[in-house]
Amino acid sequence: MEKIALQTPSFRGDIYIGEGAAERLRGLAAGQKNFAVADSNVFALYPAFFERYFSDCKIFVLPAGEENKTFENLGKILSAMAEAGLHRTSRLFAVGGGVVGDIAGLAAALYMRGISCVQVPTTLLAQVDSGVGGKTAVDLSGVKNVVGAFFQPCEVLVDPSFVKTLPPREIKCGLGEIVKYAALDEGIFDALESREGGLDDLDFLVSLIPACVRHKAKVVAADEREQGERKSLNVGHTTGHAIELSSGMSHGECVLWGMLFETELAEKYGVCDGAFGERLRRLVRRALEIKPFVLPDFSTIGKAAEKAKADKKNADDGNIRMAVGVRKGEWTLFSLPFEKYRAGLEEIAGKLRARF
Ligand code: NAD
Ligand code: GLY
Repeated sequence: MEKIALQTPSFRGDIYIGEGAAERLRGLAAGQKNFAVADSNVFALYPAFFERYFSDCKIFVLPAGEENKTFENLGKILSAMAEAGLHRTSRLFAVGGGVVGDIAGLAAALYMRGISCVQVPTTLLAQVDSGVGGKTAVDLSGVKNVVGAFFQPCEVLVDPSFVKTLPPREIKCGLGEIVKYAALDEGIFDALESREGGLDDLDFLVSLIPACVRHKAKVVAADEREQGERKSLNVGHTTGHAIELSSGMSHGECVLWGMLFETELAEKYGVCDGAFGERLRRLVRRALEIKPFVLPDFSTIGKAAEKAKADKKNADDGNIRMAVGVRKGEWTLFSLPFEKYRAGLEEIAGKLRARF
């Protein structure tokens, strides 16, 4: 079991990674004034797990899916916490993928101005990314993650045994965020690029979890509130979120499409090293070609681009901002006026339509 400390100026949390990490719940979850949030799929898949660790406490089961990461459901969770009589020393356990981690983490941040939160990420995406770092949020008015808080979990229990039950599409989504780290981290880039077998091999992906978490913990420790370095973790996300919101496709696969578009834009405007951009795009395409193969609607990419106007990285100057990898282990922020951004996406979509 690996233990990584995430130390911010105001908080220290521990991340445990390894089979059996969830066993820590035996000590942490005991007590009737604790509370767990799980989604309906995870709750149905793991009855013995919930019986073993959460038999004492109230469990809120959220219907699965991004469409349930809403302000309304946040209210329902908070009401259930109040009705269960939780107090300041109670703990909230978020057991699930990024949707549960984000909404339950926000509930923990808000209840009595903050109670202790333990993240138990059960998707590959949540284990390498969303479970770590304390970003919590819900979607509102068609904007992703627009209401949220930075609120660090006191512990994150990354137990890779959960990912064995993930459907192939969710493994691919987790790979999406791992490829994002490849744009930022030389070691992860090399591991993926030199991998001769499929990029979706579960043992291979699980072996990369510690490196991804270490990378994220280092970035978050240096810049918890995303004033600088943490913006790097949004590689592929400006266009990825725009595609996600306009297509209903999953977050991780949209990050891959976002990286494909944004890397090519960065090459076109000379922002990234051409040879590196090409290698990165080759890696992204290898990931995208894994089944199930889900394509965005290239003909409506111009309309999807509108959604990028609400991206949190933008300054108030009409420009669209993207975080892009520029060469191994290096990234930058890259801005384009909206019309150039949209025209660039449409041009790339035209080429992709012919290719895919
Ligand atoms: P998700 O939570 O919707 O989970 C994906 C699917 O997998 C769901 O159907 C879920 O029920 C199912 N599932 C979960 N664990 C399972 C398991 N062990 N076995 C089988 N099925 C399982 O989505 P996600 O991909 O985990 O996360 C995406 C969300 O995370 C988005 O809302 C995104 O905005 C957010 N996110 C947040 C951060 C952050 O830093 N807070 C970072 C990246 C993404
Ligand atoms: N996933 C982006 C971040 O945590 O900052």
